[in-house]
Amino acid sequence: VPLRAPSIQLGGELGEVPEMTIGGVQALNKRNGQPFSDEDVYLLAKLSGLAATILQFARLYEDTHTLFWGFVNAITSAIDSKDPWMRDHSKRVSDFSVAIAQELPSDWWSDGKLSQQMLYHIRVGSMLHDVGKIRVGDAILNKPDRLTDEEMEEMRKHPRYGVELLDNEAQLGRILNDALPAILEHHERLNGCGYPRGLKGDQISRIGRIVAVADAFEAITSDRPYRQGQSVERALQILLEAAGSEYDSACVQALVRIHEKGLVA
Ligand SMILES: [Fe+2]
Repeated sequence: VPLRAPSIQLGGELGEVPEMTIGGVQALNKRNGQPFSDEDVYLLAKLSGLAATILQFARLYEDTHTLFWGFVNAITSAIDSKDPWMRDHSKRVSDFSVAIAQELPSDWWSDGKLSQQMLYHIRVGSMLHDVGKIRVGDAILNKPDRLTDEEMEEMRKHPRYGVELLDNEAQLGRILNDALPAILEHHERLNGCGYPRGLKGDQISRIGRIVAVADAFEAITSDRPYRQGQSVERALQILLEAAGSEYDSACVQALVRIHEKGLVA
């Protein structure tokens, strides 16, 4: 029998997805050795109709997600390409953040484990952590010399700019709500010396603390116009020295273990 998905009304300009056959279901070898009856065919057709509807919704959801993820990647590439020294920065920070999250002990998480949904928010939030740099002028982003106090102040606004950018789109802000702290808090430090709000300790969300470590590690190991990138070993040493005062110790320890497993290059 065919897997016949019904037409689905998406509404507005999205219109409808027309009715279509998306596959077929074949039943073989009835258990009692008898041929299949008309009733069997009828039941299988009914079940296939239900299955096709569910599969069609899953496919539409997957398409939407693929589209969304494509845009996240495109926006991220756009941010990183504003500064030639930041090539692949966001993708690397995202990979490190996800690896740290997976390495953290389960009792570090508020509900005793890392949920798939949380991991997804970490992946998206860390990819977009510097999205606010879109609003920071190229003259500041690409300046090879030290920034003036004024320029530094503008640069330090990029976490807020990022959240404003996404929050202005009401639906996007709602869907990405749990990912937004990655953007707003990735420059906060445990001792309150970070920005933009100078949060301390547990005031900083877990996702913010993870991305802070991943971002710092990526920055320390990467070349900049005014200095060479440090070795991975030296970067870990720097982070360990600041663990507990600036960075969450558990996150730094997790990064060290990832390195020991040979997963950080
Ligand atoms: Fe940043």
